[in-house]
Amino acid sequence: MGPGPSGVSCSVYNALAKPTIGHLDPAFITLMDDIKEFLKQLMGTNNGLTVPVSGTGSAGMETCFVNLIEPGDKVLILINGVFGTRMEDVACRLGAEVDSLNFEWGKVVDIDSLVTKLAETKYDMVAVVHAETSTGVCNPVKEIGQLVHDTRALYLVDCVTSLGGMEVKMDNWHIDALYSGTQKCLSCPPGLSPVSFSQRAVEKLSNRKSKVPNWYLDLSMITQYWSGKSRVYHHTAPINMLYGLYQACFNIIDEGLDVVIQRHMDMHQMLVIELSHLGLELFVEEHCRLPMLNSVIIPDGVKDTEVRSKLLNEFQIEIGGGLGPLAGKIWRIGLMGETAKKESIHRLMDAFKKILN
Ligand SMILES: Cc1ncc(COP(=O)(O)O)c(C=O)c1O
Repeated sequence: MGPGPSGVSCSVYNALAKPTIGHLDPAFITLMDDIKEFLKQLMGTNNGLTVPVSGTGSAGMETCFVNLIEPGDKVLILINGVFGTRMEDVACRLGAEVDSLNFEWGKVVDIDSLVTKLAETKYDMVAVVHAETSTGVCNPVKEIGQLVHDTRALYLVDCVTSLGGMEVKMDNWHIDALYSGTQKCLSCPPGLSPVSFSQRAVEKLSNRKSKVPNWYLDLSMITQYWSGKSRVYHHTAPINMLYGLYQACFNIIDEGLDVVIQRHMDMHQMLVIELSHLGLELFVEEHCRLPMLNSVIIPDGVKDTEVRSKLLNEFQIEIGGGLGPLAGKIWRIGLMGETAKKESIHRLMDAFKKILN
């Protein structure tokens, strides 16, 4: 019940344990094509360039930046937590001219400040995190997309924690590049990062003046393995991880994406009520709370690490602590994918009651 990895179902573990076949085996190519179609459904896109990148969510972040940024490009990053800060670091390393708009951690990105910034400067890219896992804030990705769409900038969104747990409509929200991770609401172990590029993003990639400065994450080469009639080896695909991702996506689509999203919301609401019975309050204002990542204010006089180590050692329950300025101030309770079930909440509440009493 931490900020990820989340629980993994037996069906996904069973898929991971299936025999490893070759990365150019026709049966494997069929599976790859199915995974692409599944991911497109979950992301709400028709983008041809939709692939799981080998690596965790940060590899997806790096993939988007290395493929879409050239030295001197003007990039605006909207920051209200750890992962916005990481985006800024990645973009700066590529020689981009990076501006950032910083907002208080725990508060939502402010649309008016963005309007002013976009009127002042022409950007090549605007980037934001949808679900800021470090704080529990949901940023207004749809509204930001509308504003960025009126400029020439590409729009990049981090959906590591949101995908599979809340609405993501890549095409409708004018998102040009999106990345996610397997270990949050997709409920698969960490190791793959689903990425998708719009037609505009693909054009930017095709018209680059310089080569993509990272061989392993170069999508112009990776797509030759992931699409077309004859597939070209780039790197050996992590076969069994892809079996796991196939099964994890299948499970969500089988349950129904809308049903899964509603389950996350229902469990979040149940958790908030149960926490209030113990006198515990949420850190984020109601209108911008994430369903899958619940930040709880640690009451005065309660020792953060003592409670978390008791939860882990005596009750086998993991929750997350705060990061950066929020360390010692909040707990982060994950209700992601398989973990977003009543049973998880009951067990956590029983444990909390015993420990806090
Ligand atoms: C919003 C967000 N972006 C990016 C990442 C980085 O992903 P990873 O740790 O899988 O590399 C995380 C990880 O927690 C995240 O929550």
